[in-house]
Amino acid sequence: MSFTIIEECTPRLNRSELAVPGSSPKFFEKALKGSADVIFLDLEDAVAPDKKEEARKNVIQAVNDLDWKGHGKTVSVRINGLDTHYMYRDVVDIMEQAGEKLDLFMIPKVGTAADIYAVDMLVTQIEAAKGIKSRVGFEIILETAMGLRNADEIAAASPRNESLHFGVADYAASTKAKTVGIGGAVADYHVLTDPDENGERQKHWGDQWHYAMNRIVIAARSNGLRPIDGPFGDFSDPDGYRAQGGRGAALGCEGKWAIHPSQVDLANELFLPTDEEMGKARAILEAMEQAQKDGMGAVALGGKLIDIASIKQAKAMVAKADQLELKTKLLGE
Ligand code: GLV
Ligand code: MG
Repeated sequence: MSFTIIEECTPRLNRSELAVPGSSPKFFEKALKGSADVIFLDLEDAVAPDKKEEARKNVIQAVNDLDWKGHGKTVSVRINGLDTHYMYRDVVDIMEQAGEKLDLFMIPKVGTAADIYAVDMLVTQIEAAKGIKSRVGFEIILETAMGLRNADEIAAASPRNESLHFGVADYAASTKAKTVGIGGAVADYHVLTDPDENGERQKHWGDQWHYAMNRIVIAARSNGLRPIDGPFGDFSDPDGYRAQGGRGAALGCEGKWAIHPSQVDLANELFLPTDEEMGKARAILEAMEQAQKDGMGAVALGGKLIDIASIKQAKAMVAKADQLELKTKLLGE
């Protein structure tokens, strides 16, 4: 282990992250009562330019009036990009009018650490001016070549940072990838096997998003953040969603977006912490408690010394398990 200890961000259940357009308030109540862990109310790409102001008002009302906490939900708002003239007003109006109730801002198309710095500065001023006690966290979408290049600095740019998300659609656009789908396999991304005895060759499909996803996992995990896989566009293909989400989970992602309510339960299932992970976390905390009672500082478990990092990880895991238990109760499952 390195001498550098990774500070873990606020632990949150983030298996499923449901996108809800801010211009469609009729979907808000359904999202509140559904089973998604995190809901992001969108002011960015799902909202047409002439609907931006109305959407902002809808979102402020929804953050204030709906009981997100009571339904075991984390509520986030995706603001517009820093290259638009909507963004400053998104931050100012939402913070001033609903900052106390908001859990997270989602910042799209982040290119440099300075983008985070700018939003942090605004949010910090408004929290101080309004006497807001809670701290709004940041979800960051990496979805441009520049964002990927600067992933490490972006991830470390603010103590508000909680998660890095892979925006596969904009990433494809930014890198000029020859595909029009949103996530999922791309038929052209394959190699051919050598001819067999009959002269036939087979296509072996690859995952063209592997590098970007893995890059995001590394930047996130090395800064104590949650890596979250982004959208899968074809909501009538649950098998495709499972395959894409499964490979994200295998790489270390903690959750995946749902661009349709039918994808929420698929994500919840894919990213459930395993019983083994849970058992290990609880065992670490119990061993620590016993050591403290016995007046001992260091603890050994299963023949290994437990360090501060593993205790922090165990605490985060148990906090998430508690959130899951609470949510399960709230949903009456
Ligand atoms: C999400 O914002 C994406 O571009 O995929
Ligand atoms: Mg995008």
